[in-house]
Amino acid sequence: MRAYDGPAIQTKGLVKVYRGGTRALDDVSFEVAPGELFGLLGPNGAGKTTAIRILVTLLRATAGTARVVGLDVVTQAVEVRRRLGLAMQNPTLDAFSTGRETLELAGRLQGMPSAAVRRRSDELLELMGLSSVAKKLAGTYSGGMKRRLDVAAALVHCPELLILDEPTEGLDPQSRTALWEELERINASGTTMLLTTHYMEEADRLCSRVAIIDHGRIVVDGAPSELKQGIGADTVVLQIESHGAPDRGVGDDPAEGNGGGVAGDPPVDPLARVRRLLEGMVAPGAVLAHPAGVSLAVPNAYAAVPGLLRRLESDGLRVTGLKVSQPSLDDVFMKYTGRRIREGAADQPLLLGW
Ligand SMILES: Nc1ncnc2c1ncn2[C@@H]1O[C@H](COP(=O)(O)OP(=O)(O)OP(=O)(O)O)[C@@H](O)[C@H]1O
Ligand SMILES: [Mg+2]
Repeated sequence: MRAYDGPAIQTKGLVKVYRGGTRALDDVSFEVAPGELFGLLGPNGAGKTTAIRILVTLLRATAGTARVVGLDVVTQAVEVRRRLGLAMQNPTLDAFSTGRETLELAGRLQGMPSAAVRRRSDELLELMGLSSVAKKLAGTYSGGMKRRLDVAAALVHCPELLILDEPTEGLDPQSRTALWEELERINASGTTMLLTTHYMEEADRLCSRVAIIDHGRIVVDGAPSELKQGIGADTVVLQIESHGAPDRGVGDDPAEGNGGGVAGDPPVDPLARVRRLLEGMVAPGAVLAHPAGVSLAVPNAYAAVPGLLRRLESDGLRVTGLKVSQPSLDDVFMKYTGRRIREGAADQPLLLGW
C-alpha cells in the first residue's frame, strides 16, 4: 500500500540560518525507513523543531534538501502536507469545540467525506481512550487528554507518516506512559513515526532508532541499544564517608584528620584516595568526581562491586550509599558532547543507602 520507494524521510545537508544569524541547523542529514519509530533527541535549542518545520513544509531551509514519503518538501509541498499527520510542540486546540467536533473538523479540512470522518473519529476516540469525553469541550480536558486529542486529530486522514514534536512535554508520568502505549500501538499498525524529545528515557523506550542532535548537528545515530552498548561500561556511584579523611563534598569532619588517620597531615583529595586504593582494579581515568562522592566506570558493575567495597573499607573508607546504573542515552550524549542532556541530570538525589 506504500506509494513510494526508499526512505520515509531523507534529509541531506540541511542548514537553517534564521534572520539574526542563529544557525539552528548545521548540515543535518538523516534517514527514516518506512515503519520506523524514529526519535530526534536533543536538549533545548538543539534544532529539533526547526528540522520538523522544514519537513512539514512550514519553513524553508537555507541549504540542503529534504524528501518526505518520496516527495520534495519544497517543490511538492501540497502533496507532502496531504500525506503526513502533524502534532506540533504547542497544540492549538479550539477550547470551545468538543473532542468529536475537533476530529471531525480535522477530517473535513483534509477533504474526507463526512461518513468516513464520522467513522474515523469514533475509531480514534476509542483508540485514544477519549470516547467517554467525546462530547465535552476540549477546553475542559486535562493536559494528557489534550495531547491525545491533538495526536488523534493528526491521525484522522490515516497518514502514512506521523510527525510529533515533543508529544509528551509537560505531561505527568502516568499520562506520558499512556501516550507511549498509544504511540507504540499506532506504530505497530504500520504508521511510520518521527518524534522529537528531550527525554532520554522516552527515546530509549519508544524509538527503534534515534539521532542525537546538539547545536544543530547530529552527533550520532543508531538503535538505542547499540548506542548504549558503545559506552562499554556500567556506572557505580559511591557515597563515601571516610573515617578521618577530610574531603570535599562527602560530609567529613576535617578535624578528624585524613585518610592515614594522622592528625595534622595535609588533607587528601577523596578522588585521589579512591583512585589510589582501587589501582589495579579500575583504570584511573574511570574514577571521576560525582556530586554524591565518586563515580566509577566498570565493565560489569555487579561482579565488581563486592571487591571494590572490600578494598575501600579495608582502608577506612565507609561506603554509605551506592547506585549502579547501566549506560543510558544520557551517557551516550555525554560521550559525544561532554555535557549532560539536561542541566542537573547528573546530580539526581542519592542513592540507595544502607
Ligand atoms: N523563528 C526563529 N527566529 C530566530 N531564531 C530561532 C527561531 N526559531 C528558533 N530559533 C533558534 O534556533 C535554535 C533552535 O531552535 P529550535 O526551536 O529548533 O530548538 P528545539 O530543539 O526545538 O528546542 P526545544 O527543545 O526548546 O523545543 C535556537 O537557538 C532558537 O533560539
Ligand atoms: Mg522544539
